[in-house]
Amino acid sequence: PPAKPVLITGASGNLGRALARGLAERGWTLRLTDIAPFPDPLPQRARFERMDLAEGVDLLHFAEGCGAILHFGGISSDHPFNTVLGPNIQGLYHVYEAARRERARVVFASSNHAIGFHERPGQANDRLEANCAFRPDSFYGLSKAYGELMGRLYWDKHGVENVNLRIGSCFPEPTEARMLSTWLSYADLVRLCEAAVTAPRTGHCVIWGCSDNPASFWGRDHRDRIGWQPQDSAEAWRERVGGLTSGNPVTERYQGGGYTAQGYSRDE
Ligand code: NAI
Repeated sequence: PPAKPVLITGASGNLGRALARGLAERGWTLRLTDIAPFPDPLPQRARFERMDLAEGVDLLHFAEGCGAILHFGGISSDHPFNTVLGPNIQGLYHVYEAARRERARVVFASSNHAIGFHERPGQANDRLEANCAFRPDSFYGLSKAYGELMGRLYWDKHGVENVNLRIGSCFPEPTEARMLSTWLSYADLVRLCEAAVTAPRTGHCVIWGCSDNPASFWGRDHRDRIGWQPQDSAEAWRERVGGLTSGNPVTERYQGGGYTAQGYSRDE
């Protein structure tokens, strides 16, 4: 386990709970925080405090002595600009200020929606590389692009290391055809975060958060820097979910799926 405690924001959310459970099982000392109460029994060696990421001062105190921050808190789907602003933009600033003071590493739950308006690849050799342009598909996705750039700034200016996970669809199992490409299993997520925290040196890096899916949209990234390889695959669900497409041409054309079609008003 890491020498210093590891802080998890969004600990009461779906992924935060999976991480709290998985990392506590590995013997890690955790500090958990969320605006909502923690719904599970508190894992061993963990402390929980409720706070609003948009406020900030509490977070600076709670992060004292931590070696890494897994930033999974905030608005996790498409919402109006003003709803996203406090948790995802101001909150992000507070996380990075805490990391700068503690000289801690940040592992950021970014999203495929930061690049959602790239078209889906026709063939495996057209897979998108992690150094592609940002093409956010929503205000939510835009906040994730901003988060990755915040990491860029804090690395270049302050040497705060950060690992940006462009998570596809992290759920217990794939539930629609798109997830044959984008699915990330909980077990692969926990191993990914373990590698991101324990790697000796990361700088600023970007990693596609999806399992070993043959139908993945995504290609090269910085995973070698942390020594992570996914072990699960969505392919086993093909028969069950392969026919579950949306029927919406915008949704099916772009990587971000339904987020791209939401409120879409272009003529072409
Ligand atoms: P979730 O919605 O279950 O968890 C987010 C947590 O953040 C919630 O517990 C919520 O109470 C907390 N939160 C919201 N506003 C807050 C505030 N102002 N202050 C403090 N806490 C606040 O979402 P989930 O699925 O666990 O996602 C976790 C992270 O991963 C999110 O950042 C999400 O954007 C990102 N992500 C998730 C994907 C997925 O497939 N589940 C895909 C891509 C990214």
